[in-house]
Amino acid sequence: MDYSKLKVPNHVAIIVDGNGRWATEKGMSRSDGHNEGFLNLKKLSAYIFSRDIKYLSAYLFSTENFKRSKQEVSFLMNLLVGKLEEILDFCHKEKIKTVFSGREENLSDKVIKTMRKIEEETKNYKNKVFNICFNYGGHAEIIDATKKIVKDVQDGNLDVDKLNEEVFSKYLYQDLPQVDLLIRTSGEQRLSNFMLWQNSYAEFYFPKTYFPDFNENEFDKAILEYTKRDRRFGGIHYEDKNN
Ligand code: IPE
Ligand code: IPE
Ligand code: MG
Repeated sequence: MDYSKLKVPNHVAIIVDGNGRWATEKGMSRSDGHNEGFLNLKKLSAYIFSRDIKYLSAYLFSTENFKRSKQEVSFLMNLLVGKLEEILDFCHKEKIKTVFSGREENLSDKVIKTMRKIEEETKNYKNKVFNICFNYGGHAEIIDATKKIVKDVQDGNLDVDKLNEEVFSKYLYQDLPQVDLLIRTSGEQRLSNFMLWQNSYAEFYFPKTYFPDFNENEFDKAILEYTKRDRRFGGIHYEDKNN
C-alpha cells in the first residue's frame, strides 16, 4: 500500500493476542500457536519498520502470565532463549535497536542473559527501536519508576519541585515517545496492564484477527483507520476550527 497519503504513526504498540485460540481452533497445541506468533512477529515487525514507523512496542509476556501452566510459561521462556541467534540476525539485518521492558524478578538467568545480550549487541542502531515487553506490567513499571524517583530525591539528585511529566517519563523502563496507535489482535478490548502511562492518548484498534494471521494487509487496514481518526488531544474538532 502507498503510505505517502496516509498518516504514519511514530510509535505503534501491539498486544500480541490470540496465539492460543488460533492453534486450538486448528486442533494444534498452544505451543504451536506461540511458534506461529513468533514467526509472524518477525515478518510483521520488518514490514512495520519498512513503513517509516520509528518505534514499535510489543507485549509478549505480562507479569500476570505467570498464572498459566508451568509448561506454557516455560515454553514461552525457552522460545525467547532458543531464538537468540535468529533474533540477533534479524536485528542486525534490519538495523533495529532492541530493548526489553519489564522486571527481572522471576526470570531465569538464561532469559535475563538473552535479553541483555540482544540489547548490548543492538544498542548502536539509532533509527528503529523495538521495545519488547517481557515480564512487563504497567502498574509494576509505575511503581518501579516511583521507587527510583524517591531514591533520587532522598540522595539529593532530584528536586521534587522539578518533577513533571517529562521528568517522570525518563524514570520509566525506556525513554520512549507516547504511543500513537495501539493494536490488540483477537477481538479483546482491554489493555491488560500494558503501557498505562504511554497509552494515555493512543488511538485504539481492535481487529478480530488472531495474531498469527495479522499480516501486512491487516496492518495496512489499521493505518488506514488511524488516518481517519481526528486526534484532538483535548482541543476541538478540525472542522470547527474556523468558527
Ligand atoms: C499470545 O496469545 C499472547 C501471550 C500472552 C503469550 P495468548 O496465549 O494469550 O492466546 P489466547 O488469548 O489464549 O488465544
Ligand atoms: C495480555 O494478553 C498479555 C500479553 C499479550 C503478553 P493475555 O491474553 O494474557 O490477557 P488477558 O488475560 O486476556 O487479559
Ligand atoms: Mg490471550
